[in-house]
Amino acid sequence: MPTPEDRPAARVADAAMGRAIYLRGTVDADRPIVALLGQPPVSVPASTLPCANCHGRDGLGRPEGGQEPSVITWRTLMRAIEAPGAGKRARPAYDRSRLRRAITMGLDPSGRALDPGMPRYQLTHEDLDDLIAYLEVMESDRDPGLTDTAIRLGVILAPRSQAEMLGSPVRQALEALFEGINARGGIYGRRIELRFAEAPESPSERVGAARSFLEEAAPFALLCPYISKVEAPFGALASESSVPVVGPLTPMPAPDETPARPVFYLDGGLAGEVRALVAFAGASGKARPAAVLYRVGPVASATVTAVREACARQGLGRPAEIEAPAAAEWGRTIEQLRSAGVAMVFVLGLGDETATLLESAEAAGWRPDVFAPAALAGRRTIERPPPFRGRVFLSLPAPATQDAEIEEYRDLVRRGRLDRGHQAIHWAALGAAKVLIEALSRAGRGLSRDRLVEALEEFRAFRTGYTPPVTFAPGRRLGAEAPTIVALETPGGRLRPVAEPRTSGPARDRAGSGR
Ligand code: HEC
Repeated sequence: MPTPEDRPAARVADAAMGRAIYLRGTVDADRPIVALLGQPPVSVPASTLPCANCHGRDGLGRPEGGQEPSVITWRTLMRAIEAPGAGKRARPAYDRSRLRRAITMGLDPSGRALDPGMPRYQLTHEDLDDLIAYLEVMESDRDPGLTDTAIRLGVILAPRSQAEMLGSPVRQALEALFEGINARGGIYGRRIELRFAEAPESPSERVGAARSFLEEAAPFALLCPYISKVEAPFGALASESSVPVVGPLTPMPAPDETPARPVFYLDGGLAGEVRALVAFAGASGKARPAAVLYRVGPVASATVTAVREACARQGLGRPAEIEAPAAAEWGRTIEQLRSAGVAMVFVLGLGDETATLLESAEAAGWRPDVFAPAALAGRRTIERPPPFRGRVFLSLPAPATQDAEIEEYRDLVRRGRLDRGHQAIHWAALGAAKVLIEALSRAGRGLSRDRLVEALEEFRAFRTGYTPPVTFAPGRRLGAEAPTIVALETPGGRLRPVAEPRTSGPARDRAGSGR
């Protein structure tokens, strides 16, 4: 009787190797796999034609260019297809040996040739065993952070020094919103689990910390992470880790669309608002001398540059850049601006600068047009604007007309969860969450990171209620191009929309997209 030693040791197929072949078309760069494509066949490296390219990471098939790659999940392959949809073939069930034949020879179980759009792969026995072992477990090989019952989302909050203004309000808004969603049964029966991290104070440590967070918390996607000052390297990290990112928080969004990264910005940030205000000021006709009044700080350094660049682009010349004076010095600053003939002032403060400017200008009888992002105009400007007989325009990353969604916000406030004092940052976080929730719903039960990105790319003027309408596309990663611009009535404080956000299609000012 033969002993086991007489036979070659049975090799156990390695699904991890098979996974590499499925996703990348190679296990070992020194041993390329060859694929034959088309009729007559042309040989190409399989690394340029991995299975996942056509069948998707989930095996569900990605129709493209008139081709319909089959669903190749194990369950579907092992079942006969008797009543196929229009234009599809019936076929008997596969088994392992028929599957080997399909992959290497392009024959279906009945021996009929598959469409030449399906390449034929020249694989060793071992590679083929591994690949088939992977196909068998592919359905349970889910993206990180995803199970049948939960979706884990990661949120990177602003550093501790900004916890009060930025970090905690984001956390509270998201916790309150998702608590409600989970109470209603989650999304396709999956609960949303939030994992929080805090960004390091030093920008140079932020990308490293984000990388560790992705490894340790393994979130399925990131929601409004704080990425100020690390926009580009963070985008590269997201790409490399294939983690979808919705609504990153930074004053200076840097959408990278070539090749499209999985990072979806909701709007152009403060820089985008400032550009829109300058364009609005410039559209009024002849160039008038402009000035930027700023308070030194991280926000100003980014936004002052944006004003300077936008003024140059609008042919408004170089604005005078003036630091907001100490309380006693306002009179002198006003005189200086007035005698320079300044007719437009962009205010980039964070506190009382805008209100103080309006008061001091009114007292001096000087009436320039004043422009500011609402988020930087200070609470007093909006709630109790001082008398000022000039014109004041504010930009808001909010919808021009507010719809029912706002009822939801009132409800969150009413349930004692949120302090209205942080409304702007709440809305940024809630807007991002609404986009992600919609995309998760559209991606459906068969959710994967790829499906999520595809679902996001189909957004056309989607209304979150908290932001201007959001549009994405395969080459578009900036959801809303322009904020709403409102005229502020002083005194009174009524906000009257003067510019609706544009939601139109591809013809856009690419120079204005943040690069
Ligand atoms: C360039 C696109 C493309 C790539 C890459 C590709 N396929 Fe396909 N595949 C197709 C198309 C298209 C069909 C449908 C053929 C038909 O209907 O006749 C198909 C069919 C199949 C079938 C037959 C399913 C059935 O129901 O009969 C199997 C099995 C399969 N592919 C496995 C794979 C595997 C495994 C890989 C990687 C080693 C791979 N394919 C790579 C395009 C592709």
